[in-house]
Amino acid sequence: MKIEVNISDELEPIETASVDELRSLQLERMQWTLQHAYANVSMYRKKFDQAEVHPDDLKSLEDLAKFPCTTKQDLRDNYPFDTFAVPMEQVVRVHASSGTTGKPTVVGYTQQDIDVWAAAVARSIRAAGGRRSDIVHISYGYGLFTGGLGAHYGAERLGCTVIPFGGGQTERQVKLIQDFKPSVIMVTPSYCLAMADEFDRQGIDPAQTPLRVGIFGAEPWTNSMREEIEKRFGMHAVDIYGLSEVIGPGVAQECVDTKDGPTIWEDYFYPEIVDIESMTPVVDGTEGELVFTSLIKQAMPIIRYRTRDLTRLLPGSARTMRRMDKITGRSDDMMIIRGVNVFPTQIEEQILKLEQLSPHYQLEITRDQQLDNLAVSVELRSGDVDAAGREQLAAELKHHIKSDIGISTRIDLRDPGSVPRSMGKAQRIIDKRQL
Ligand code: DLL
Repeated sequence: MKIEVNISDELEPIETASVDELRSLQLERMQWTLQHAYANVSMYRKKFDQAEVHPDDLKSLEDLAKFPCTTKQDLRDNYPFDTFAVPMEQVVRVHASSGTTGKPTVVGYTQQDIDVWAAAVARSIRAAGGRRSDIVHISYGYGLFTGGLGAHYGAERLGCTVIPFGGGQTERQVKLIQDFKPSVIMVTPSYCLAMADEFDRQGIDPAQTPLRVGIFGAEPWTNSMREEIEKRFGMHAVDIYGLSEVIGPGVAQECVDTKDGPTIWEDYFYPEIVDIESMTPVVDGTEGELVFTSLIKQAMPIIRYRTRDLTRLLPGSARTMRRMDKITGRSDDMMIIRGVNVFPTQIEEQILKLEQLSPHYQLEITRDQQLDNLAVSVELRSGDVDAAGREQLAAELKHHIKSDIGISTRIDLRDPGSVPRSMGKAQRIIDKRQL
């Protein structure tokens, strides 16, 4: 399927198209995707045959529910390239997820896929308030991770000036931000806070930089974290969502004028929310696992991919296309502490209610006589708090967590700078139960 990609500072026609127009485009593209996957990827042919469904059975968007879901394990089982639907000579790029356990997941792109991805990210930057006149500083990692190159091609496509910094060398990043004066930054929210601390260390107020918009994603973050970043940098902080298996960053983007959760670029990616137990789709507004079907990807079509991300679909606001609520967390990151389900974002919200606590935190789970315990390590904003003050703060945080979330925790208040920083995605949970 050939598509036209055209980006300027103006909205694309599809962004303001009617719901009917959008749904009919989605159906046409979904039919093509299913046929393409079935004809060219043996994994899909086997899965469809087993479930006794055929691409011809898709007469409406609702029929998608008849098709089997795809999991990370399916992609691993076809490592590295057996999920590709085009001959290798048409694949111009591969990326891979870090794969903390087992094999990484490999994804591939044709030239058209790269163009579509760049267009999706360009559209995202524009929705975030970026324009072609902007200088964009990119601190997402470059390489096999999709963050850096995905952001880069999108910013270039919009016509911006790109500073391809990548992750790390925080001191140098801060120097370059002062010298090159970018107006937009694309980085993980946790690493942005590490940069804010470096500005402070150098005695510079980060709000004095010309940064106007920050486009943050690759990890869950809360609205309290948004407030923290907006206050410290004096800029808009908006959410970008994406995952390598679906394309990379730019699957959904929060519009700066509404800041009410990322708008899903539904002309490229079809979302569903499914109930985690029954795996059946739920109605919009109900929380569950986000599942995506690509609509125009050539090299690696993806059918009903289980993201493991938990959220709900919301009606369109700044655009016709639907939004997703901020991700609560990944089902893999859900901690079950003595029968209570807890996500790191819930703890983050409680931490940020207390002004003397910083947003740098880590959670450690241990098991003692068959019972799970959660310890929260969190940094003080200033080291000048005496022992009595620390005790009181710890008691306050413990109380908030107990009364709002319902679990007992051990609180470990640390001095500024002592919780490990990450250059990319923050590692929030240290699970010591397996040791
Ligand atoms: O993290 C792509 C990306 C790069 C997105 C830069 C945004 C910005 P993966 O490494 O495959 O790809 O990880 C995807 O990260 O399933 C979510 O669990 C999480 N994630 C990504 N964006 C968000 C977000 C990139 N805005 C996984 N909020 C996804 C919460 C996010 N979680």
